[in-house]
Amino acid sequence: MEIKVAQNVKNTPVEVLVINKFEGENTSEELANTYAVNKDHFEGKFGQTYLLHTLGKIPADKILIIGFGKKEEFDHNRMREAVAKSIKKLQQIKAKKAAFDFDVTLDYGKSAAIGAMIADYAYDKFKSEKAHHLDEITFARFSESEVKEGIVFGEAMKFTRDLANTPAQIATPAKLAEIAQNLEGIETKVFDKEEIERMGMGAYLAVGQGSVRPPKFIHMKYTGKNIKKRIAIIGKGICFDSGGLDIKPASSMLTMKDDMSGAACILGVMRALAELKPDMEVHGIIAACENMPSGSSYKPGDILTAKNGKTIEVDNTDAEGRLTLADALCYACELNVDEVIDIATLTGACVVALGTIASGIMGNDEDMIQRVINIAKESGETFWQLPMFKEYFESLKSDIADMKNTGSRNGGASAAGLFLQEFVKDTKWCHIDIAGTAYIEKPQKEFISGATGAGVRTLLNYINE
Ligand code: BES
Ligand code: MN
Ligand code: ZN
Repeated sequence: MEIKVAQNVKNTPVEVLVINKFEGENTSEELANTYAVNKDHFEGKFGQTYLLHTLGKIPADKILIIGFGKKEEFDHNRMREAVAKSIKKLQQIKAKKAAFDFDVTLDYGKSAAIGAMIADYAYDKFKSEKAHHLDEITFARFSESEVKEGIVFGEAMKFTRDLANTPAQIATPAKLAEIAQNLEGIETKVFDKEEIERMGMGAYLAVGQGSVRPPKFIHMKYTGKNIKKRIAIIGKGICFDSGGLDIKPASSMLTMKDDMSGAACILGVMRALAELKPDMEVHGIIAACENMPSGSSYKPGDILTAKNGKTIEVDNTDAEGRLTLADALCYACELNVDEVIDIATLTGACVVALGTIASGIMGNDEDMIQRVINIAKESGETFWQLPMFKEYFESLKSDIADMKNTGSRNGGASAAGLFLQEFVKDTKWCHIDIAGTAYIEKPQKEFISGATGAGVRTLLNYINE
């Protein structure tokens, strides 16, 4: 779908003209007011749609009216959802071309473009019958630069969703490394198994040792022109999580190709940074591997030594993400960056606590956590802070090592956060748990089922602020 910007679309012939209606107000089209508002009493409640055939009375064949709800409640999130809703309706009627003419005063181009691209998304690479896509949409009134920025965000999300939806037989650690190495405008170094050993990443290595596919440690770097801040973003990159020897039940394993959604998010963000060009230095880090059961797997009871020298008794091989992140966090902190953010499909406990609407967030710097939460909100994502009560560390204590990799099931998301904190020095750090939000099994709001690109918009806005 191509997205264009035009000054005026009303006098140009088009298949569908999409206009808005605020509750209690008229639309900008006389014809729509005559039929929809006066005759059919279409109210324009938020998200309601009304389709009208124009019978040649205006240049457009059809008018689609989208309800914008109450004017005082309208914001960027509503714009994104309204455009997404319109696109779904246009798909239903198999439209190919549409022009959007919304009478809004503010600059809503970015959220409109993002909404269009979220709704246009389908993962139909492996289906003989492809999804219906619009060929072209045109937005009137919005600023071109705003729409362009929205397109970069939309493409980043699409890239991340495609990668997280890709089956594990294709999206392997080597594949992630290859993708990173081919990113334009990004410097990438990939460390292979021997180099990872030399770096002393004993926790990460143990997780990958049961797989026939070797681990790949990926370090990407974006360097802006004038560097205001240096930041490292880390994505959990478990290309498949079978649970290892503590193998998962079949039903829990079904979606575990998505356990590299954090990594997919980081790749999507790094790719977009080369286009957005913020004045920042950004390190993208992924400790990619598979968690598999085999004769060479790591075992419950093994004691691992992480990069910072701390020892970990393996309590459960299915708590593998935190082991890979432990070494990645040590590595990131050694870069002497100002801030570190990790994003991970880390715990089922986070899904139990927050469901599929909100991602969990924890960290060691309250101000940074609040900034990330606020930016998430503006970005159309919901992040919810979870506590890091130090009492929960009790359950991670080991009799024979510095800690165990799992504690009690209760408060599991917080215990995982406390575990990670052991590998962060004094650097400001946030941990985002996207276990519930990165991959949905049923359609939700403007998203179809499957990967959602959780975290992409928030990280991009955080870095690009
Ligand atoms: N990848 C899973 C977490 C997960 C669960 C992601 C559901 C997406 C949906 C993680 O590696 C895991 O297995 N966590 C265990 C930890 C437990 C053994 C302490 C869990 O949450 O059950
Ligand atoms: Mn696991
Ligand atoms: Zn996992």
